[in-house]
Amino acid sequence: MKQYILAIESSCDDTSAAVMDTDFMCLSNVTASQQVHQQYGGVVPELASRAHQQNIIPVVDVALQKAGITKKDLAAVAFTRGPGLLGSLLVGVSFAKTFAMALDIPVIDVNHLHAHVLAHFVKDEDNAECPQFPYLCLLVSGGNTQIIKVNDYNDMEIIGKTIDDAAGETIDKAAKILSLPYPGGPHIDRLAKQGKPSLQFARSHIQGYDYSFSGLKTSILYTLRDKLKDDPQYLEHNLNDIACSVQKTVVDSLLDKFDKALRDTGIKTVALAGGVSANSLLRERFNALGQKYGCRVFIPRFSYTTDNAAMVAACGVFKFKHGEFAPLNLTAYAR
Ligand code: KG4
Repeated sequence: MKQYILAIESSCDDTSAAVMDTDFMCLSNVTASQQVHQQYGGVVPELASRAHQQNIIPVVDVALQKAGITKKDLAAVAFTRGPGLLGSLLVGVSFAKTFAMALDIPVIDVNHLHAHVLAHFVKDEDNAECPQFPYLCLLVSGGNTQIIKVNDYNDMEIIGKTIDDAAGETIDKAAKILSLPYPGGPHIDRLAKQGKPSLQFARSHIQGYDYSFSGLKTSILYTLRDKLKDDPQYLEHNLNDIACSVQKTVVDSLLDKFDKALRDTGIKTVALAGGVSANSLLRERFNALGQKYGCRVFIPRFSYTTDNAAMVAACGVFKFKHGEFAPLNLTAYAR
């Protein structure tokens, strides 16, 4: 008989619920995004947790309906425990524990970053392929930039990481300078398609597989400030080229280190993960890099790039199969 896991994701500003069977087949993945933050140019934590409270019951309801099951069919509830915004996480954690307690089924805690890395195991009607361990994963989200050697579902070695800002944060900051709406990543991607990479920004070159983006952030700011001195309309007139140059510099930085890690480890399966993996240039260039080394390449479908409960469910299924359940006194953690 099939067993089903309900997964909840509420670490930032998306309330998401998914239903997955223990063969990793995703039966539903429902997300309510919060528009309320747009006018503030960033996520406002207090507003995010209130919106999660409003969204969580309807989102879970729709996820169960779409999966064609009832809550009585569930075998466990998985939830994102952290890292993320504490108030947001608490809504998901409290809901998951209460729901599971009422149904008398176990809960499974999931690390949000592990979930991003394991998103490649989500199967649906369009995709049944998944990577084999070990694989080398480039995780690029709003808050994290990491190269991870994924030895197993519970054995992930971070071999490179940012020592200051994340790649997504850098792109979002550039977008903010250009007065683009938050989050800026998708707008930079869209504008870059019409532009040329005509601007040079200073890149950090640090040892090993670690990244540093703070110098690039400063370089973007100073370069544009100098251009504006000569031409007050510079930003408006060169939006596409600026976006294209920022995007290219970030992608070059990301892939130079990943290329080195790939060469040194000799791993033959590569995967991209996190919100920035929606970027079209990164997807194209990551695929080309993998091909260059004869690797199997896994690039997430758009619905599994940003925060979603399907990836939490995939991590939950691994833990379910190994009987790794959480005690009910477990709480959320922000970092
Ligand atoms: O993984 P995610 O939801 O954030 C964290 O959990 O930290 O990713 C959000 C990030 C934001 O920085 C957003 O601008 C970026 O992903 N992003 C993109 C694109 N779509 C989303 N960056 C570049 N190009 C895109 N198409």
